[in-house]
Amino acid sequence: MSTPRPLIAGNWKMNGLAAALDEARAVAAALEERPAGARVAVCPPATLIDRLAEAVAGSAVLVGGQDCRAEAAGAFTGDVAAEMLAEAGARLVILGHSERRAGYGETDAVVAAKVEGALRAGLEPIICVGETLAERQAGRALEVVTAQVRGSAPAALAGRDFAIAYEPVWAIGSGLTPSIEQIEEVHVAVRAVLVEMFGATGAASPILYGGSVKPTNAAEILSAREVGGALVGGASLKAADFLPIIVAA
Ligand code: PGA
Repeated sequence: MSTPRPLIAGNWKMNGLAAALDEARAVAAALEERPAGARVAVCPPATLIDRLAEAVAGSAVLVGGQDCRAEAAGAFTGDVAAEMLAEAGARLVILGHSERRAGYGETDAVVAAKVEGALRAGLEPIICVGETLAERQAGRALEVVTAQVRGSAPAALAGRDFAIAYEPVWAIGSGLTPSIEQIEEVHVAVRAVLVEMFGATGAASPILYGGSVKPTNAAEILSAREVGGALVGGASLKAADFLPIIVAA
């Protein structure tokens, strides 16, 4: 089976007013000039999805959401359905980010239901998993991460496009990263679970690394075993930081 193209996805989190569209435009223009080997996605706040999709239309930049509700519609004040993201121009959606698991009590079952919602709407889910520092220090990183994959990845993913993002909670926004050996150990374990669960689909789905990916460490991380791309937070906000990470893939 051929190796799928890596995926470099930018997670803007709750950052970005209209002026930030210029950063996405700059990424799109640079990729036009020098096409990347990787697929590239930008996941802005929901309020910017349709404008960002318009700003990068016809370019190599894909647009993604950062979360969605499992249901397609209903009395869920403040929430956004996958269908709404898709209609606004999103092709992907980040689900189960640790900031949502920790801050909004999202369990594996909740994340799995959201993944089904994303698939129903034709979105490619990026399913986030990752251990806390306490869990790593207790020697439980592999156990925690593989359990999250099993619990958050529903059977409906078989035959569909999706990615897993391994994001150690303690590496997010901290400037700390695991060693390459630690990253590879987790990615190899996640790959084994995906193959067991989904066969050929599980063998081909990219496993992204996320957590303090920067222009300075991207090449080393992206060349590690079973690392099929990156989910980038802070360094995705500026084209000048995001582009060298894309080029490193
Ligand atoms: P960071 O965030 O790159 O700023 O560490 C990554 C993420 O939370 O997806």
